[in-house]
Amino acid sequence: MALIHFAVEEALMRLFDYPESDKHNAIHEHFLTRLEDILNRSIHKSADSEMLMFLQEWLTNHILGSDRDYARHILSGAALVRADNSTLVTASVEQPR
Ligand SMILES: [Fe+2]
Repeated sequence: MALIHFAVEEALMRLFDYPESDKHNAIHEHFLTRLEDILNRSIHKSADSEMLMFLQEWLTNHILGSDRDYARHILSGAALVRADNSTLVTASVEQPR
């Protein structure tokens, strides 16, 4: 599930030329590495509470922080760019009043 979510986010950031995408993608990679580490250690001992704390902290900081940053970039009128860097369309999202 997380892999699909990250792939969609990373595609959006690439399409809208988000300037912080490399940093954001590195955060995703770190999350997956840390998750795999906890899962591997859970074979030998119960890591339920550590997993819960890690996910709670990550979801709070990342989804309510970094993910909102790239969403603001897209909603601010970022241009959707093609692979050759030509503009396909400019985002135009009406903001709620
Ligand atoms: Fe993200």
